[in-house]
Amino acid sequence: MKRRDVMKAGALLAASAWAPVAVAAQSRDHSARIKALIDQMTLAEKLGQMTQIPGGRQKSLNSKLDAAMLDRVRKGEMGSFLHVAGAEPLRELQRVAVEESRLKIPLLFAMDVIHGYRTILPVPLALAASWDPAVAEAAARLAAEEAWAAGLHWTFTPMVDVARDPRWGRVVEGAGEDPYLGARMAEAQVKGFQGADLAKGQRLMACAKHFVGYGAAIGGRDYDSADVSDRTLNEVYLPPFHAAARAGAASFMTAFNDLGGVPMTANAALVRGTLRDNWGYQGLIVSDWNAIKELINHGVAETPAQAAALALRAGVDMDMASGTYSEHLGAAVAVDAGLLPLVDQAVGRILAAKARLGLFDDPFGFGDPAHEKAPLNRPVARDLARRSIVLLRNEGGLLPLKPGAKVGLIGALADDASSTLGSWRARGQIEDGVTLRAALGDTVEYQPGVKPRGSDGSGIPAAIDAAKRADVVLLAIGEDYDFTGEARSYAEIGLAGLQIALVEALKATGKPIVAILMGGRPLALEKALTGIPAVLQTWLLGVESGPAIAEILTGKASPGGRLPIGMPRVTGQSPIPYAHLPTGRPANPDLSVDSARYRDMDIGPLFAFGHGLGYSEVKYGELSLSAAEIPVTGTLTATISITNTGKVAVEEVVQLYANDPVASVSRPDRELRGFVRVTLKPGETRKVSFTLSAAQFGIWQPGKWVVEKGEIKLMAGASSTDIRSEAGFRITGTAAGDMPATSIATRVRVA
Ligand code: NOJ
Repeated sequence: MKRRDVMKAGALLAASAWAPVAVAAQSRDHSARIKALIDQMTLAEKLGQMTQIPGGRQKSLNSKLDAAMLDRVRKGEMGSFLHVAGAEPLRELQRVAVEESRLKIPLLFAMDVIHGYRTILPVPLALAASWDPAVAEAAARLAAEEAWAAGLHWTFTPMVDVARDPRWGRVVEGAGEDPYLGARMAEAQVKGFQGADLAKGQRLMACAKHFVGYGAAIGGRDYDSADVSDRTLNEVYLPPFHAAARAGAASFMTAFNDLGGVPMTANAALVRGTLRDNWGYQGLIVSDWNAIKELINHGVAETPAQAAALALRAGVDMDMASGTYSEHLGAAVAVDAGLLPLVDQAVGRILAAKARLGLFDDPFGFGDPAHEKAPLNRPVARDLARRSIVLLRNEGGLLPLKPGAKVGLIGALADDASSTLGSWRARGQIEDGVTLRAALGDTVEYQPGVKPRGSDGSGIPAAIDAAKRADVVLLAIGEDYDFTGEARSYAEIGLAGLQIALVEALKATGKPIVAILMGGRPLALEKALTGIPAVLQTWLLGVESGPAIAEILTGKASPGGRLPIGMPRVTGQSPIPYAHLPTGRPANPDLSVDSARYRDMDIGPLFAFGHGLGYSEVKYGELSLSAAEIPVTGTLTATISITNTGKVAVEEVVQLYANDPVASVSRPDRELRGFVRVTLKPGETRKVSFTLSAAQFGIWQPGKWVVEKGEIKLMAGASSTDIRSEAGFRITGTAAGDMPATSIATRVRVA
């Protein structure tokens, strides 16, 4: 059996069907039409279809849609536009394409609708902090409904890059450091954006990006080289893409970076090999912005024609923004006619995507001017924001705030409406963002203190005075929206500007402080947070930021988020993933023993992956397993009961980790293999069951997955470092697995 068939068969045996097969079936209905079109097309028209052109700029959508551009549409010079939006302008653009161009092929309209279109929602890292795929799915669905109304077909999201280095500015756009959590968030977002049928309306085509290894940029520097082992690539970086493909993601984007010297936009082994041939992926593959032309900068092509040929051979169907396919692929084809079938294949996939969206049947099926003017969906925005907040520390039960307490609110971030929106803001408006200051209003005394950047400390004395008058200080610190996002990597991820001076001055007042950490990355704040009894991580939460944070502060809602990436103590610890391999000399607190640690720093992160508190205590029972051993084709159920022993309702995230203590290669200390967010009333006990298959313990061996015979340890608990109960079982045989272990979802039941 060929590897692709193995994968498909395996997937069909698993709970959900292998979605790209379904995609193929849908587009088969249109295959005769697509073939007939390709037969009629000139080479220039084919290259036009393979070309995506900016119809504006990210901050000035549609600005390039002038008469000359319409003429180009009439000539069939492009198959798609990005940075465009609006039901009416896009309808007119589409009308020109389907009425006035020779072949009347509809255009694809794309935009980066990342975490909301008009109603801006929490940034993706915050959504992942909910540890609830339903939250990510709901965010995607709302974004799709609003963007669909504006005539869009396609969004460049989800970003499913695993990000273990918080210096990397794009950590804000993904689901954090873990491939299992990342895979579940990837599936949820694809489902939310695409629904069951893209042609039925109110949905957008999703794009899993950036294939692959973009998050592994050396030193956390955006766009820089990545060099990961074959095992890490397959076990960590590829699985969320595999999960997105299985969930039916209609498109993929290749990454800017090279992987071990092979730029991803020219990486035939991974794009055409792994993604297309091994995984059977049938969707549309687009390059990242200008990335085909940049193959010359990478030093793998001398001319644009060579760059175009490399990208095409690698399997890139559409050229985003560089114009290299339209201007130079013709020259490459002239010297190598062997490229022509690849051109036809690429055009076929682009037309199949258009068919899947229903554009051949109704090119105007997207866009609804009435719906476009609908008010923001604030209830959903508030709910998602609330669910993304993580309580990191709460000494002495400082939170929730006691009724009647005199509160000082300090920090310019508490009043920064622009930062509520994050860096991708689609059509979000700054005035829509409700800040913490606005939400708390006159119930607090507000002082900005300092901004997160700059050297103006003139507000510090007034902030100290306000703190002295207060019973408790709420201190908003961290990063504004512009510290994270594309090309926003930082070598130092402590507190910028004069914030540390403000923090120390406030600590000196002796007043209890609640640090409210805002921003799109986990910061390195051990020193800053020393002596601060309560810490809340609130990210960049969208238009309902302030009210959501206020509800948690006052205890109207309970905090239930968990960290999707650990927080280092100091920048120099990064990256510090929780799922590390054992070493011959494991980290030892005793500095007289030579061990795998820094001498100047405590072992481990400040706050671990999976960490987060509630306003109540949760007791865990014993982890019990349905069997002591299972065959290599078998499944096992692990059950644990949890009880809320406190006086208020709580949202607990029960986490299941696995370890393979003895294998043919070293295995990570612990790896997430299941989780669920559960609500418990005071005194309530619930039972959580995780059902796993042996395939979920597969190890990547050169070219294949292998499930090895032997013992597996399961650990259940409240974070990666707060394990409450363990149990072990044996897998009795060895066999080839059929897909990435972390791409397989654990079945979870809560009774
Ligand atoms: C470059 C970014 O890397 C990518 O994520 C984005 O979708 C495109 N620009 C289009 O804006």
